[in-house]
Amino acid sequence: EKIFHNVHDKMISCLPREIYNLLKTFGQFGDEVGLNVYVVGGFVRDLLMDNPSFDIDLVVERDGLKFAEHAAEKLKATLVKHDKFLTASLFFNGRRVDVATARIEYYEAPTELPQVEISTIRKDLYRRDFTINAMAIKLNHKDFGLLLDFFGGQEDIQNKKIRCLHTLSFIEDPTRILRAVRFEVRFDFTIEEETERLMREAIHQGYLEKVSGQRIRQEFEKIVQEIKAVKAIKRLAEFDAIKRTFPGTFYTATMEEKLRALFDFLPWAEKHFGQVDRFYSVMFVLLEYHNEQLLNEIKERYGLSLKFLQQLKLLKKMIIPLSQMIKLRMNFSDIYKVTHDISPEGFCYIASYLEPDDQEYLKQFLERVSTVKLTISGKDLIDKFGLKPSKKLGEILESIYCAKLDGLIDDSNELEYVKSLIESASSNSR
Ligand code: CTP
Repeated sequence: EKIFHNVHDKMISCLPREIYNLLKTFGQFGDEVGLNVYVVGGFVRDLLMDNPSFDIDLVVERDGLKFAEHAAEKLKATLVKHDKFLTASLFFNGRRVDVATARIEYYEAPTELPQVEISTIRKDLYRRDFTINAMAIKLNHKDFGLLLDFFGGQEDIQNKKIRCLHTLSFIEDPTRILRAVRFEVRFDFTIEEETERLMREAIHQGYLEKVSGQRIRQEFEKIVQEIKAVKAIKRLAEFDAIKRTFPGTFYTATMEEKLRALFDFLPWAEKHFGQVDRFYSVMFVLLEYHNEQLLNEIKERYGLSLKFLQQLKLLKKMIIPLSQMIKLRMNFSDIYKVTHDISPEGFCYIASYLEPDDQEYLKQFLERVSTVKLTISGKDLIDKFGLKPSKKLGEILESIYCAKLDGLIDDSNELEYVKSLIESASSNSR
């Protein structure tokens, strides 16, 4: 495959009109301010793999901020600049476009201008993670659609390889260890041999522990969003990267089963609850056997919430009896009484202990809890039945709710049930 190669035809055939036009427009803005503009990274990779994605990352030579200001004005976009990093983000039409600067290093600039240009974008691409992510397409009118592939990205796509660009890649940025696995599993590629060796060496030398927890967490959050997340976690474990990332976590066959069950349950749970934090739901499984001290270290490192730690503590005690209750198909009301304080992520953790049939029962339970409503209120009990505000009142309401959960009563006989409850309560107290 050639270093320079025009992919205009592919852009026409693969990209939605809107995206194609937007890229043209960015090229034109570049021409207007006299700067070279490229679309880079994942966008180029996905286009060449005939599976276009629409997150646009631009690199502008010499002065990305000047370009971004001009583009913002023309598009009436909101501009957020990070002057320190010479980067900016444009927000318009519900879209976000990131702009970075590739600086010319003057002391190295040869006299011929075209060569300066090439070395500038080339250097920017050379700093990136993998060959498949290190290609650019030029957008300026004259060269619109020109692919720049200095490091064999096209060939690696052909051969399905994840390959880093230089021997220090994982040392400079250890989060790339997680990224390599993420892309390998997502695309069904193979990490190239020398790259794998460099990865193992960086892991072995403790580089995962040298990065900030925040950056590791960001990459791990992306992994749990992947369709083949369990496969990716398993692969990370093969690299010893799980125990390096979460000290005290040992990947086992049982853990893998739990993760599979969890990820089988998650799509349903996300629909049911509106949203579920996948990261935290996985943390339950990875951290369930940790002692207080290890847990605290991990909490500090990854900024885990207090609410999560409380849930974990609670569920550690309850997970076995609770999953047993579900397996035994105990009444919804019995389950309800012990699951008041469990978060959506906590329920997903419970699901990780369950076989498909038992997960179905848990779904029915959650479905029922969210649809059953009382027609009577505490105020009704006071106004109509002359009860005094008290703890008892809440108990009566809960009894009614539980009877409804179990299907003993429905809206039509709720009131009768209330009367019988109050009668028996007063006769008991006599
Ligand atoms: N990049 C890198 N090293 C990193 C993170 C990012 O070199 N640690 C570069 C890569 O060129 C990558 C680009 O920045 O393509 C954008 O990164 P990101 O948005 O995280 O990933 P994408 O490649 O766009 O992948 P995804 O499809 O997951 O968004």
